[in-house]
Amino acid sequence: MSLSRIAFIQCKDSLKFTRLLSRRFASTSELPKYEYILTEKKGEKQNVAVITLNRPKALNALCDGLMQDVGDAVSRFENDETVGALVITGSEKAFAAGADIKEMQDHTFAIAAGGNFLGQWNLISKCKKPIIAAVNGYALGGGCELAMMCDIIYAGDKAKFGQPEILIGTIPGAGGTQRLTRAVGKSLAMEMCLTGNQITADIAEKRGLVSKVLPPDQVVPEAIKLGEKIASLSQLTVSLCKDSVNTAYETTLQEGLKYEKRTFHGTFSTDDRKEGMKAFIEKRPPQFTNS
Ligand code: CAA
Repeated sequence: MSLSRIAFIQCKDSLKFTRLLSRRFASTSELPKYEYILTEKKGEKQNVAVITLNRPKALNALCDGLMQDVGDAVSRFENDETVGALVITGSEKAFAAGADIKEMQDHTFAIAAGGNFLGQWNLISKCKKPIIAAVNGYALGGGCELAMMCDIIYAGDKAKFGQPEILIGTIPGAGGTQRLTRAVGKSLAMEMCLTGNQITADIAEKRGLVSKVLPPDQVVPEAIKLGEKIASLSQLTVSLCKDSVNTAYETTLQEGLKYEKRTFHGTFSTDDRKEGMKAFIEKRPPQFTNS
């Protein structure tokens, strides 16, 4: 079987699976009332899901319950076909101040390793739909790592990013030593991880961790606008494109280029690729059907 045929079948199968699940979670009215987060749909077409971390007294420290809520909401929105993009945000003071130190202070190695502590956080980085982190205030430790699990980071001009785990006798455990190094390079990542020093939003933007810095009150509205733009496109093509960019982080250049080419070729079997090009030539907006 040709490679493009395989890519085509993979696309169609994952779409079928997505549709099957989306019938189970057709609207947010089916979302449970969460203890640690708020959820809503925003945007003119209500096609951007906003998840707000809501544990203000602990600066949104990421306790187990909060991360379970986030994981549950992300997977429900992932399977809701009315949603094309997600935004995760916190408060003006804190996106999130890290994993919950009080909750983990008595963990033993056996509990951490045996229970795969923080392992379930990966669910967020596996979401097929784009997730934008809208960061104000502190994004420290697991908070910085949660932002980096998202696909795009917008930051308020007073946001602070850091991996302070070394100051409490541990190391980053949810991607800090890996994703931060890929984002800002070895020297700055090493300095941040070895000292706990924080960086400002401006430095984060200069070093490629953040794609835009905004006044604090503009961060969420601009993230929603960005989500709306993405949600207005072919959701099938968006998920293939996200997957291809992410492959750049997980493979060699040669393998990544091959993967990209196969996926690109695979888009030639979709209705949305045909419609996109036809609409361009006919000088009209495309009507994507996510097929
Ligand atoms: N875990 C649990 N509680 C936390 C917390 C955390 N990560 N961060 C803040 N809090 C709590 C504080 O204990 C305090 O609660 P109480 O009022 O009950 O004492 C409340 O939030 C407010 O915090 P502060 O009084 O400290 O607020 P501040 O404005 O003086 O300082 C701060 C803010 C600089 C963010 C400071 O709270 C801080 O340094 N927090 C810890 C940051 C940290 O070390 N994060 C890494 C955690 S480990 C990790 O994330 C591992 C991983 O890789 C996943």
